[in-house]
Amino acid sequence: MSADTSMATPRRIRRFSTYRIVEHLLLILLFATLALTGLPQKFHQVGICQSLILLIGGIDMARIIHHWAGVLFLLLAVEHIAVNFIGIVFRQWDPSLLITLKDVKDAIHNGRYYLGLLPNPALCGRFSYKEKCVYWLVLIGGIQMIVTGFMLWFPVLVTRYLPGQFIPAAKIVHSSEAMITFLLVVTWHLYEVILSPDVFPVNKGIFTGYMEEQQAARLHPLEGTERREIDADDLSEMSPEHRP
Ligand code: HEM
Ligand code: HEM
Repeated sequence: MSADTSMATPRRIRRFSTYRIVEHLLLILLFATLALTGLPQKFHQVGICQSLILLIGGIDMARIIHHWAGVLFLLLAVEHIAVNFIGIVFRQWDPSLLITLKDVKDAIHNGRYYLGLLPNPALCGRFSYKEKCVYWLVLIGGIQMIVTGFMLWFPVLVTRYLPGQFIPAAKIVHSSEAMITFLLVVTWHLYEVILSPDVFPVNKGIFTGYMEEQQAARLHPLEGTERREIDADDLSEMSPEHRP
Protein backbone atom coordinates (compact mmCIF):
# COMPACT_ATOMS: atom_id res chain seq x y z
CA MET A 1 0.00 0.00 0.00
CA SER A 2 1.60 3.31 -1.04
CA ALA A 3 1.70 6.20 1.45
CA ASP A 4 0.03 9.50 0.57
CA THR A 5 3.14 11.59 -0.15
CA SER A 6 1.15 14.79 -0.81
CA MET A 7 0.22 14.78 2.92
CA ALA A 8 3.80 14.07 4.01
CA THR A 9 5.65 16.64 1.86
CA PRO A 10 5.07 20.24 2.95
CA ARG A 11 4.57 22.74 0.11
CA ARG A 12 7.57 25.00 -0.50
CA ILE A 13 7.92 28.42 -2.07
CA ARG A 14 10.93 29.69 -3.99
CA ARG A 15 12.63 32.34 -1.83
CA PHE A 16 16.10 32.84 -3.32
CA SER A 17 17.47 32.48 -6.86
CA THR A 18 20.64 30.50 -7.66
CA TYR A 19 22.43 33.82 -8.04
CA ARG A 20 21.58 34.79 -4.42
CA ILE A 21 22.61 31.33 -3.17
CA VAL A 22 26.03 31.56 -4.84
CA GLU A 23 26.50 35.16 -3.64
CA HIS A 24 25.79 34.15 -0.01
CA LEU A 25 28.14 31.12 -0.27
CA LEU A 26 30.94 33.36 -1.55
CA LEU A 27 30.21 35.82 1.27
CA ILE A 28 30.50 33.04 3.89
CA LEU A 29 33.73 31.74 2.32
CA LEU A 30 35.44 35.13 2.06
CA PHE A 31 34.21 36.43 5.43
CA ALA A 32 35.40 33.26 7.18
CA THR A 33 38.80 33.46 5.43
CA LEU A 34 39.23 37.14 6.36
CA ALA A 35 38.16 36.56 9.97
CA LEU A 36 40.38 33.47 10.35
CA THR A 37 43.44 35.27 8.95
CA GLY A 38 42.70 38.70 10.49
CA LEU A 39 41.48 38.03 14.04
CA PRO A 40 44.53 35.91 15.05
CA GLN A 41 46.68 38.95 14.08
CA LYS A 42 44.62 41.14 16.43
CA PHE A 43 44.76 38.62 19.31
CA HIS A 44 48.30 37.36 18.59
CA GLN A 45 49.09 36.97 22.31
CA VAL A 46 46.35 34.31 22.73
CA GLY A 47 47.57 30.69 22.47
CA ILE A 48 44.85 29.44 20.10
CA CYS A 49 45.54 32.36 17.70
CA GLN A 50 49.26 31.52 17.65
CA SER A 51 48.40 27.86 16.86
CA LEU A 52 46.04 29.02 14.10
CA ILE A 53 48.72 31.24 12.53
CA LEU A 54 51.20 28.32 12.61
CA LEU A 55 48.54 26.07 11.02
CA ILE A 56 48.01 28.62 8.22
CA GLY A 57 51.78 28.62 7.52
CA GLY A 58 53.07 31.54 9.57
CA ILE A 59 52.28 35.24 9.85
CA ASP A 60 53.52 36.11 6.34
CA MET A 61 51.25 33.49 4.76
CA ALA A 62 48.31 34.65 6.93
CA ARG A 63 48.86 38.23 5.71
CA ILE A 64 49.14 37.19 2.04
CA ILE A 65 45.90 35.15 2.26
CA HIS A 66 44.19 38.05 4.11
CA HIS A 67 45.18 40.58 1.44
CA TRP A 68 44.05 38.48 -1.53
CA ALA A 69 40.81 37.41 0.18
CA GLY A 70 40.35 41.17 0.72
CA VAL A 71 40.70 41.77 -3.05
CA LEU A 72 38.04 39.09 -3.76
CA PHE A 73 35.81 40.60 -1.05
CA LEU A 74 36.12 43.97 -2.82
CA LEU A 75 35.11 42.36 -6.15
CA LEU A 76 32.09 40.69 -4.50
CA ALA A 77 31.00 44.02 -2.98
CA VAL A 78 31.37 45.86 -6.33
CA GLU A 79 29.43 43.11 -8.14
CA HIS A 80 26.66 43.16 -5.48
CA ILE A 81 26.24 46.94 -5.54
CA ALA A 82 26.42 47.23 -9.36
CA VAL A 83 23.97 44.38 -10.08
CA ASN A 84 21.42 45.64 -7.53
CA PHE A 85 21.76 49.27 -8.60
CA ILE A 86 21.13 48.36 -12.25
CA GLY A 87 18.31 45.96 -11.28
CA ILE A 88 16.47 48.43 -9.06
CA VAL A 89 16.99 51.58 -11.17
CA PHE A 90 16.62 50.17 -14.70
CA ARG A 91 14.77 46.83 -14.40
CA GLN A 92 12.06 47.53 -11.78
CA TRP A 93 13.47 45.06 -9.22
CA ASP A 94 11.71 45.29 -5.89
CA PRO A 95 13.99 47.20 -3.43
CA SER A 96 12.78 44.90 -0.65
CA LEU A 97 15.86 45.42 1.57
CA LEU A 98 15.45 49.20 1.82
CA ILE A 99 14.68 50.35 5.38
CA THR A 100 11.26 52.05 5.64
CA LEU A 101 9.22 53.71 8.38
CA LYS A 102 7.29 50.43 8.77
CA ASP A 103 10.55 48.74 9.90
CA VAL A 104 10.93 51.30 12.71
CA LYS A 105 7.29 50.73 13.71
CA ASP A 106 7.80 46.92 13.55
CA ALA A 107 10.89 47.16 15.80
CA ILE A 108 8.99 49.23 18.38
CA HIS A 109 5.98 46.90 18.08
CA ASN A 110 8.15 43.82 18.74
CA GLY A 111 9.91 45.56 21.65
CA ARG A 112 6.47 45.93 23.27
CA TYR A 113 5.51 42.37 22.26
CA TYR A 114 8.65 40.93 23.92
CA LEU A 115 7.78 42.88 27.10
CA GLY A 116 4.38 41.21 27.09
CA LEU A 117 2.53 44.48 26.34
CA LEU A 118 1.11 43.28 22.98
CA PRO A 119 -0.43 39.89 22.17
CA ASN A 120 1.10 39.33 18.69
CA PRO A 121 4.44 40.06 16.98
CA ALA A 122 4.72 42.54 14.08
CA LEU A 123 3.70 41.28 10.63
CA CYS A 124 6.74 41.47 8.35
CA GLY A 125 7.10 41.54 4.56
CA ARG A 126 9.72 39.85 2.37
CA PHE A 127 12.52 40.87 4.79
CA SER A 128 11.94 41.68 8.48
CA TYR A 129 13.53 44.74 10.11
CA LYS A 130 16.07 42.39 11.77
CA GLU A 131 17.15 40.91 8.43
CA LYS A 132 17.44 44.40 6.94
CA CYS A 133 19.63 45.48 9.89
CA VAL A 134 21.98 42.51 9.38
CA TYR A 135 22.15 43.23 5.64
CA TRP A 136 23.01 46.94 6.01
CA LEU A 137 25.44 46.43 8.90
CA VAL A 138 27.35 43.77 6.92
CA LEU A 139 27.33 45.93 3.76
CA ILE A 140 28.42 49.18 5.46
CA GLY A 141 30.90 47.37 7.74
CA GLY A 142 32.29 45.52 4.70
CA ILE A 143 32.83 48.79 2.79
CA GLN A 144 34.59 50.32 5.82
CA MET A 145 36.88 47.30 6.09
CA ILE A 146 37.66 47.39 2.37
CA VAL A 147 38.62 51.11 2.47
CA THR A 148 40.68 50.86 5.68
CA GLY A 149 42.15 47.48 4.65
CA PHE A 150 43.59 48.97 1.45
CA MET A 151 44.89 51.98 3.41
CA LEU A 152 46.79 49.56 5.68
CA TRP A 153 48.05 47.56 2.70
CA PHE A 154 49.39 50.63 0.84
CA PRO A 155 50.36 53.13 3.58
CA VAL A 156 53.08 54.87 1.52
CA LEU A 157 50.69 55.58 -1.35
CA VAL A 158 47.98 56.81 1.07
CA THR A 159 50.32 59.20 2.90
CA ARG A 160 51.22 60.87 -0.40
CA TYR A 161 47.70 62.33 -0.35
CA LEU A 162 46.61 62.20 3.32
CA PRO A 163 48.31 63.06 6.66
CA GLY A 164 50.20 60.19 8.34
CA GLN A 165 47.73 60.02 11.26
CA PHE A 166 45.23 58.40 8.86
CA ILE A 167 47.15 55.09 8.99
CA PRO A 168 46.86 54.39 12.75
CA ALA A 169 43.26 55.69 12.55
CA ALA A 170 42.55 53.22 9.70
CA LYS A 171 44.02 50.43 11.83
CA ILE A 172 41.70 51.22 14.75
CA VAL A 173 38.64 51.44 12.46
CA HIS A 174 39.58 48.22 10.59
CA SER A 175 40.30 46.27 13.74
CA SER A 176 37.20 47.45 15.67
CA GLU A 177 34.86 47.07 12.69
CA ALA A 178 36.16 43.52 12.17
CA MET A 179 35.20 42.68 15.76
CA ILE A 180 31.79 44.37 15.49
CA THR A 181 30.89 42.61 12.22
CA PHE A 182 32.23 39.26 13.44
CA LEU A 183 30.19 39.45 16.66
CA LEU A 184 27.13 40.69 14.75
CA VAL A 185 27.25 37.71 12.41
CA VAL A 186 28.07 35.11 15.06
CA THR A 187 25.71 36.25 17.81
CA TRP A 188 22.82 37.81 15.87
CA HIS A 189 22.69 36.41 12.34
CA LEU A 190 23.66 32.84 13.23
CA TYR A 191 21.25 32.90 16.18
CA GLU A 192 18.39 34.08 13.89
CA VAL A 193 19.07 31.44 11.19
CA ILE A 194 20.05 28.48 13.39
CA LEU A 195 19.00 28.68 17.06
CA SER A 196 15.92 30.90 16.96
CA PRO A 197 12.79 28.86 17.89
CA ASP A 198 11.17 30.22 14.67
CA VAL A 199 13.57 28.21 12.46
CA PHE A 200 15.34 25.67 14.72
CA PRO A 201 17.28 23.44 13.86
CA VAL A 202 18.32 25.60 10.87
CA ASN A 203 16.88 27.85 8.15
CA LYS A 204 18.29 26.27 4.97
CA GLY A 205 16.53 28.73 2.64
CA ILE A 206 19.63 30.56 1.46
CA PHE A 207 21.31 27.23 0.54
CA THR A 208 18.35 25.39 -1.07
CA GLY A 209 16.52 28.47 -2.39
CA TYR A 210 13.23 27.23 -0.87
CA MET A 211 11.23 27.82 2.29
CA GLU A 212 8.24 25.83 3.54
CA GLU A 213 4.99 27.65 2.80
CA GLN A 214 3.85 27.53 6.45
CA GLN A 215 7.15 28.93 7.69
CA ALA A 216 7.07 31.69 5.06
CA ALA A 217 3.50 32.58 6.09
CA ARG A 218 4.65 32.82 9.73
CA LEU A 219 7.91 34.75 9.15
CA HIS A 220 6.91 36.89 6.17
CA PRO A 221 3.10 37.10 6.32
CA LEU A 222 2.88 40.37 4.37
CA GLU A 223 5.03 39.22 1.46
CA GLY A 224 1.96 37.93 -0.38
CA THR A 225 0.24 41.27 0.19
CA GLU A 226 3.22 43.16 -1.21
CA ARG A 227 3.15 40.87 -4.26
CA ARG A 228 -0.61 41.36 -4.77
CA GLU A 229 -0.11 45.12 -4.65
CA ILE A 230 2.52 44.77 -7.37
CA ASP A 231 0.17 42.61 -9.45
CA ALA A 232 -2.59 45.17 -8.97
CA ASP A 233 -0.25 47.79 -10.39
CA ASP A 234 -0.23 45.59 -13.49
CA LEU A 235 3.44 44.74 -13.36
CA SER A 236 4.30 41.21 -14.39
CA GLU A 237 5.08 38.95 -11.43
CA MET A 238 8.74 39.13 -10.57
CA SER A 239 10.91 36.06 -10.83
CA PRO A 240 13.23 35.25 -7.92
CA GLU A 241 16.08 36.81 -9.91
CA HIS A 242 14.25 40.10 -9.66
CA ARG A 243 14.17 40.09 -5.91
CA PRO A 244 17.06 41.55 -3.89
C1 HEM B 1 26.58 28.77 8.36
C2 HEM B 1 26.43 30.04 8.38
C3 HEM B 1 25.24 30.80 7.84
C4 HEM B 1 23.95 30.40 7.69
C5 HEM B 1 23.30 29.06 8.07
C6 HEM B 1 23.23 31.51 7.10
C7 HEM B 1 21.90 31.51 6.74
C8 HEM B 1 21.23 32.53 6.16
C9 HEM B 1 19.84 32.50 5.77
C10 HEM B 1 18.90 31.32 5.95
C11 HEM B 1 19.53 33.69 5.23
C12 HEM B 1 18.20 34.09 4.61
C13 HEM B 1 17.22 34.53 5.66
C14 HEM B 1 15.94 34.87 4.95
O1 HEM B 1 15.13 33.97 4.73
O2 HEM B 1 15.76 36.05 4.61
C15 HEM B 1 20.72 34.50 5.27
C16 HEM B 1 20.78 35.79 4.83
C17 HEM B 1 21.89 36.60 4.98
N1 HEM B 1 23.14 36.19 5.42
FE1 HEM B 1 23.63 34.40 6.16
N2 HEM B 1 24.10 32.56 6.92
C18 HEM B 1 25.34 32.17 7.36
C19 HEM B 1 26.48 32.90 7.38
C20 HEM B 1 26.56 34.23 6.99
C21 HEM B 1 27.75 35.04 7.06
C22 HEM B 1 29.13 34.56 7.55
C23 HEM B 1 27.40 36.27 6.63
C24 HEM B 1 28.18 37.56 6.51
C25 HEM B 1 29.36 37.78 6.74
C26 HEM B 1 25.99 36.25 6.28
C27 HEM B 1 25.28 37.33 5.80
C28 HEM B 1 23.96 37.29 5.43
C29 HEM B 1 23.21 38.44 4.98
C30 HEM B 1 23.77 39.88 4.85
C31 HEM B 1 21.92 38.01 4.70
C32 HEM B 1 20.75 38.88 4.20
C33 HEM B 1 20.01 39.46 5.39
C34 HEM B 1 19.20 38.45 6.16
O3 HEM B 1 18.34 37.77 5.57
O4 HEM B 1 19.45 38.31 7.40
N3 HEM B 1 25.52 34.98 6.50
N4 HEM B 1 21.74 33.77 5.85
C1 HEM C 1 35.36 40.86 6.59
C2 HEM C 1 36.37 41.59 6.32
C3 HEM C 1 37.64 41.71 7.13
C4 HEM C 1 37.92 41.32 8.41
C5 HEM C 1 36.99 40.58 9.39
C6 HEM C 1 39.27 41.75 8.70
C7 HEM C 1 39.93 41.57 9.89
C8 HEM C 1 41.17 42.07 10.19
C9 HEM C 1 41.78 42.08 11.50
C10 HEM C 1 41.10 41.60 12.78
C11 HEM C 1 43.02 42.61 11.38
C12 HEM C 1 44.03 42.79 12.51
C13 HEM C 1 43.96 44.21 13.03
C14 HEM C 1 44.79 44.40 14.27
O1 HEM C 1 45.94 43.93 14.30
O2 HEM C 1 44.28 45.05 15.22
C15 HEM C 1 43.23 42.94 9.99
C16 HEM C 1 44.37 43.51 9.48
C17 HEM C 1 44.53 43.86 8.17
N1 HEM C 1 43.58 43.72 7.16
FE1 HEM C 1 41.71 43.01 7.37
N2 HEM C 1 39.79 42.35 7.58
C18 HEM C 1 38.82 42.35 6.61
C19 HEM C 1 38.90 42.86 5.36
C20 HEM C 1 40.08 43.34 4.80
C21 HEM C 1 40.18 43.83 3.47
C22 HEM C 1 39.03 43.90 2.47
C23 HEM C 1 41.47 44.21 3.29
C24 HEM C 1 42.04 44.78 2.03
C25 HEM C 1 42.86 44.17 1.30
C26 HEM C 1 42.19 43.98 4.53
C27 HEM C 1 43.52 44.25 4.77
C28 HEM C 1 44.14 44.20 5.99
C29 HEM C 1 45.50 44.65 6.27
C30 HEM C 1 46.47 45.26 5.25
C31 HEM C 1 45.74 44.45 7.62
C32 HEM C 1 47.02 44.80 8.43
C33 HEM C 1 47.80 43.57 8.72
C34 HEM C 1 48.41 43.03 7.46
O3 HEM C 1 49.24 43.71 6.84
O4 HEM C 1 48.00 41.94 7.06
N3 HEM C 1 41.31 43.44 5.43
N4 HEM C 1 42.08 42.61 9.29
